[in-house]
Amino acid sequence: MSSPDMKTIAVIGSGLIGRSWAMVFVSGGYTVKIFDNQPGQSANAITEIKKQMEELEGARMLRGKLTAAQQIQLLSSYDDLAQALEGAFFVQECIFEQLEVKQTVFQDIERLVGEGVILSSSTSCLVPSNVFSKVQKRSRCIVSHPVNPPYYVKLVELVPHPETAADVMDTTHALMTKVGQAPVRLKKEIDGFALNRVQAAIIAESWRLVQDGIISVRDIDLVMSEGLGMRYAFIGPMETMHLNAPEGLEDYMKRYGEGIRRVLTSFGPVPDFFGEGSKSIINEMCELIPSDQQHLTARKERRDQLLMHLAKLKKDD
Ligand SMILES: NC(=O)c1ccc[n+]([C@@H]2O[C@H](COP(=O)([O-])OP(=O)(O)OC[C@H]3O[C@@H](n4cnc5c(N)ncnc54)[C@H](O)[C@@H]3O)[C@@H](O)[C@H]2O)c1
Repeated sequence: MSSPDMKTIAVIGSGLIGRSWAMVFVSGGYTVKIFDNQPGQSANAITEIKKQMEELEGARMLRGKLTAAQQIQLLSSYDDLAQALEGAFFVQECIFEQLEVKQTVFQDIERLVGEGVILSSSTSCLVPSNVFSKVQKRSRCIVSHPVNPPYYVKLVELVPHPETAADVMDTTHALMTKVGQAPVRLKKEIDGFALNRVQAAIIAESWRLVQDGIISVRDIDLVMSEGLGMRYAFIGPMETMHLNAPEGLEDYMKRYGEGIRRVLTSFGPVPDFFGEGSKSIINEMCELIPSDQQHLTARKERRDQLLMHLAKLKKDD
C-alpha cells in the first residue's frame, strides 16, 4: 500500500453519478481511478466520459483549465478494487442505493486503504450512521451528496457521521471547492439532509394543491419555473425575504410572518402519493409529457441543455 499523495481519487461505481464525479474531479486536475464490480463497466464509463468531454470542449463548456485530452489522460479504469484504491487519498462511493451493499463495500474498502484515507458516500437517502456502521474508524467518513447532474448543478451536501472528524469535513469542503463544486456543511445528520427535505415540502404542497383541485399540473410547474425558480437560481429563500421588505428580514417577518404562519397551519397531512387520488395527477402529467422513453429522453436532454446554459450564466454572474 503506497502512501496517498493528495492527487489521486478513487471513484467506486461507474453509473450515472460515478461518471459525473469522475468528470468533476479530473476537471480539477486530480487523477481518478474508477472501479465497478461489473467487469468492463468502468472501461465503458471512460469511453462514455471521453465522448462527453469532447462534446463539451466543442461547445466551450468543458470545466477546468485542462483540455479534454489532458483530462482524459487522468482517468483509468479497474475491475479490481485494491488496484483502484492504491494511492488514493479520497474515495467517492457511487454504487446502488442499497444499505447492505454500501455497508459491505465500505467494510471492504477500509480493509484495503490506510488510516488517513477519507471515505465519502454519494448516498441520497441513507444517513451516515447507517451507511458507515460497519466501518471501524468512522471519524474518516462523510457523505458528499451531489445533485444530478453534478457537472452542471454544483451543490454538494456534506453530511457528517456523529463521529466524523472536523478535519475530514474541512478537507472534503476544500476539495469540493477546488474542483468547482458548491459545498454546504450540515452540522449533523438528518433524514433527507437539507435539499431533499426542502424538496419534499415543495412536492407535498404541489401535490396537495393539484389533488384538491386548486391548480393544474401544468400551472403548478409554472409557479416554480416562471416564479419562485427564477430567483432561486441565484438567491435562496433567506436572502429573498431579506430583500423583499424595505428594512430586511426582521421587517419582512413583521409584515408577512403572521400570514406565513396562518398558511402553514392550513397544510394538511402528508398527501396520498399512491392511492386512487394519485391516478388523475399522473394521467395529467402524462398527457403533457408521455412517459415512454422517447419523450422522457427528449425532455431530459432539454433539461440538461438548459442547465448547461444556466451554469454558464451563473459562472459569469
Ligand atoms: N441518480 C441521481 O439522481 C443521484 C443523485 C444524487 C446521488 N445519487 C446517489 O449516487 C449513488 C449512485 O447512483 P447512480 O444513479 O449513479 O446509480 P447507477 O445505477 O447509475 O450506478 C451504480 C453503479 O454501481 C455499480 N455497482 C453496484 N454495486 C457495486 C459494488 N458492490 N461495487 C462496485 N460497483 C458497484 C453498478 O455496476 C453501477 O455501474 C446512489 O447512492 C444514489 O443514491 C444519485
